[in-house]
Amino acid sequence: VESLKPVLDSVEEEVDVDPGKTKVSIFFGTQTGTAEGFAKALAEEIRARYDKAVVKVIDLDDYAADDDQYEEKLKKETLVFFMVATYGDGEPTDNAARFYKWFTEVKESGTWLQQLTYGVFGLGNRQYEHFNKIANVVDEHLNEQVDMIAVCFPLFTRQGFVSFAIIVVSRNGVGYWKVSILTCWLIIFSNIMIPKHVTPSAEVHIYFYLCTAEANELFHGVQGAKRLIPVGLGDDDQSIEDDFAAWRELLWPELDQLLRDEGDANTVSTPYTAAIPEYRVVIHDPAVTNLEDKHLNMENGNASFDIHHPCRANVSVQKELHKPDSDRSCIHLEFDISGTGLTTVYWDYSIMLDAMRLFWALILKLGKSSLADNKVDVDDLYETGDHVGVYVENCDETVEEAGKLLGQPLDLLFSVHTDKEDGMSQGSSLPPPFPGPCTLRTALAHYADVLNPPRKVAALLALAAHAFEPSEADRLRFLSSSEGKDDYSQWVVGSQRSLLEVMAEFPSAKPPLGVFFAAVAPRLQPRYYSISSSPRFASSRIHVTCALVYGPTPTGRIHRGVCSTWMKVGLRLCLSDHAVSLEKSHDCSWAPIFVRPSNFKLPANPSIPIIMVGPGTGLAPFRGFLQERLALKEDGAELGPALLFFGCRNHRMDFIYEEELNHFVEQGVILELITAFSREGPKKEYVQHKMMDKAAYVWNLISQDGYLYVCGDAKGMARDVHRTLHTIENTDSSKAEAIVKKLQMDGRYLRDVW
Ligand code: 2AM
Repeated sequence: VESLKPVLDSVEEEVDVDPGKTKVSIFFGTQTGTAEGFAKALAEEIRARYDKAVVKVIDLDDYAADDDQYEEKLKKETLVFFMVATYGDGEPTDNAARFYKWFTEVKESGTWLQQLTYGVFGLGNRQYEHFNKIANVVDEHLNEQVDMIAVCFPLFTRQGFVSFAIIVVSRNGVGYWKVSILTCWLIIFSNIMIPKHVTPSAEVHIYFYLCTAEANELFHGVQGAKRLIPVGLGDDDQSIEDDFAAWRELLWPELDQLLRDEGDANTVSTPYTAAIPEYRVVIHDPAVTNLEDKHLNMENGNASFDIHHPCRANVSVQKELHKPDSDRSCIHLEFDISGTGLTTVYWDYSIMLDAMRLFWALILKLGKSSLADNKVDVDDLYETGDHVGVYVENCDETVEEAGKLLGQPLDLLFSVHTDKEDGMSQGSSLPPPFPGPCTLRTALAHYADVLNPPRKVAALLALAAHAFEPSEADRLRFLSSSEGKDDYSQWVVGSQRSLLEVMAEFPSAKPPLGVFFAAVAPRLQPRYYSISSSPRFASSRIHVTCALVYGPTPTGRIHRGVCSTWMKVGLRLCLSDHAVSLEKSHDCSWAPIFVRPSNFKLPANPSIPIIMVGPGTGLAPFRGFLQERLALKEDGAELGPALLFFGCRNHRMDFIYEEELNHFVEQGVILELITAFSREGPKKEYVQHKMMDKAAYVWNLISQDGYLYVCGDAKGMARDVHRTLHTIENTDSSKAEAIVKKLQMDGRYLRDVW
């Protein structure tokens, strides 16, 4: 691939857009495929509407091989769209992370962006604190005023000239220097300076001699790209597809101006209806086809692993963490990664952290003890605080139900294909085909997400197109239409009807396999877990702490989380606790996994105080932290104080890893374990209440350069802890906010939330 790269690059450069045509680039930052799907749908509609548009859909990670190329390539663009999702704690998706860092942290925006016209659509969820942060930041950064400029103008009173006022406009906002005794506030509005609020004393009136036109010119001179339409903020908590449709409606009049041929200026464009995407399906004869099921026979042939190249890892330990009194379940699982060579691709800062760790290790070495005993080469495995992505499969029951609803035998051997010539039309909105030939059983188990509610437009329309019964087809069409918006949100989303449930309600809708896998069932996505071990402690294992997702939905169906159910009941364990060679362990349960690096890391210097807040499974990464600290201590390191705030419902039911935590306290790895049991007394006790009880101590540790870590539920717990943090210090709210912001900026307030 490396040797081909220059060739591929040059080929790409050679594809020049015909004069008279306009190049449109649509970038996507996707985690679960929705943003990519939107990017492709937008591309198709632009192609269908405008003959002169040459549209390209681009994965942000693939756009430039290294950061230097981003600027060079963007400079050649004229019309671009960004479909970018925000997830977790206001973070970009993995495939957008490099671009986002470069664009917002490394590269100053500026006049180099001026030739660009752009639109941004964000995918987020309003329940989260940083709703659509990435889309907003990209939008502002593309458009923002750059470089600091100062405007100086005279201030006059009735008595005449008083003095000069200087307004400074920079990327950080607007500043005003008081060079007179007057108090005035200026706000920049639409790049024009408008005196919003003036508070003159009784005698003094101020007249601002603002050369508005000149200032305006100046500001235009320093703006970045031209925003075609306001940023779209898709909300997955409601119907993100409706948000996307509404944003597109705003877009067409603007694009008409840019992309319609002059002759078309007065014609009305025909309404666009998206074609239903479909794979070409080839049915294979099992007697002829040499079926090598890529899944069952997956081997580890890669030098490093990532989301596209997962590593086959056996499950070697599984145990229940809840106590017998509990009516819920939380699983401790260990993946055996010995012999796999599982490595992570580190980001820049990890290299820095490693360097600091090495430095620290050297200091320790020179001091009390030697690190020579430490046999684990941590760099070869994963890092404490990283995440593991796990590809799972639907259980047999789900697969069988899906097979029945499709009316196809599960041992049908088939493969799906996209055809090159389809590239510019409907085929382009297809996800890449999955490896085949495989049986329908394998395809339904590994590639089809059938337990989530179906997507409004794509899935329901595709089902409608293949419903035999006209009444069923009509109802499905209505649910996918804008008039059926409320019905869709109540009947599908509100009642958490799974795709299988919806298909069962419309038994005449039997889409062919090519349509089912392309349009109806989204791809089953990997599930991410915060790794609950440290490679210093468990050198050949990745530990996972996973709460079982299980419960009734409004329709009375019992919803079982795909991955947690597999971890709870779907395993065949390798009984040996020792590493089992892969050849001998083909009967054991295994999953394709990969490590995703995170920035949730311990301070390089172990003597720095840390405060950890992790109720429920939010404890997971802290278990890794504590294992790491214990290993460091055994190596002779001097540990700083560590507080752990842990919360659960009842200590007799769901106090997970209780003995281990007590052991860490005894070993001096945790200075204080502070627990909040929410369902033991008459009043709810949460971790943040306990933090308030310890407010003075917490701030004392933070002010000794301490680090604060929060892990767990983003919508409730992390948001409440964040609020509490502002009230912990005995200071006014604006000062507290500044302190918390500074902590975040310094990388001393880290959150791993979902
Ligand atoms: P609850 O279920 O009794 O409300 C782990 O899930 C623990 O976190 C439980 O004890 C749970 O309490 C608690 N929890 C729920 N919401 C929370 C919030 N907003 N802040 C802190 N803890 C919360």
